[in-house]
Amino acid sequence: MIIREASFLSSNTQVAACPAPDRPEYAFIGRSNVGKSSLINMLTGRLGLAKTSSTPGKTQVINHFNINNEWYLVDLPGYGYAKVSKSSRADWGKMINAYLTKRENLTCVCVLLDSRHAPQAVDLEFMEKLGEAGVPFIMIFTKTDKQSTSQTKALLADYLTKMGETWDELPRHFVTSAETGLGRDEVLDFITEINR
Ligand code: GTP
Ligand code: MG
Repeated sequence: MIIREASFLSSNTQVAACPAPDRPEYAFIGRSNVGKSSLINMLTGRLGLAKTSSTPGKTQVINHFNINNEWYLVDLPGYGYAKVSKSSRADWGKMINAYLTKRENLTCVCVLLDSRHAPQAVDLEFMEKLGEAGVPFIMIFTKTDKQSTSQTKALLADYLTKMGETWDELPRHFVTSAETGLGRDEVLDFITEINR
């Protein structure tokens, strides 16, 4: 897919205020600092389009990006950051739950997972909730440039084995690096395929 146009549209905390649900939408979610905003920049080829930070908790609202005037990319705030207060966590839960269950054009949720980390309860539980709610999702492993290919392969194998304990059919998964561009074509081809 050629990205001809990639532009920031809006930031919202209310689903009702999000852009008209008139085209396919792909939302990026995962733990704080996993690399959601960086991956959006890598996929679109626009550094600085989504705001990134080495401090977890940078993205706080639902950010919509217009891609080729054909589909939306959505950057969501991360979960699982220990320093967040109880009330902020509850606000996050309400906002994300409303978004995931009410956003009618939500085509696929991309759950980002750090390729260096063994399966974490918070991620497994989040994916189980998506499954229970019938929200389609894929897994995207991030930051593979930070370790060797064999380490990534070993972790991936463990991860898929763990997922196999819960899921009859494993969700599709992709292996990426925002640094090297690994996985860019595969993720964009997947989106092209679904948009068709
Ligand atoms: P929140 O918005 O805070 O939830 O974080 P996020 O998931 O959007 O993460 P973000 O893209 O801001 O990246 C967090 C940190 O990880 C930044 O310092 C990025 O430069 C770094 N990072 C993200 N992706 C990669 C990657 O593929 N490789 C490497 N080496 N660093 C990465
Ligand atoms: Mg972010």
